[in-house]
Amino acid sequence: MVKIVIENLAQKEVYSNEDRASVLKIFHSNYIDWMHACGGKGRCTTCKMIVLEGATHLSTPSIAEEGYRKKGELADGERLACQTYASDYCKVRVPDENKLPHLDYTA
Ligand code: FES
Repeated sequence: MVKIVIENLAQKEVYSNEDRASVLKIFHSNYIDWMHACGGKGRCTTCKMIVLEGATHLSTPSIAEEGYRKKGELADGERLACQTYASDYCKVRVPDENKLPHLDYTA
């Protein structure tokens, strides 16, 4: 069972039993609205998340993520939710630049 805590969405906890579900897919299957301008294809950075805990439970960065990291568009500790697969617990937060205007974020 994968458990993901979203710190600045009031510590919202989401769960998944799927073997191969991206973090973005887990968010959506738990009715979490998360920005994903390219539709989860690794062609933007709008699904970016900041990983606070459990980075070792996440898949290795994809080729797309490495490309964005080289261009300076993805910092250390940041991952693309559509490119990342979780095998166990992790805690993330939404970066300020990727917050949706209709949601109320917490500290
Ligand atoms: S939704 Fe575009 S890279 Fe993830």
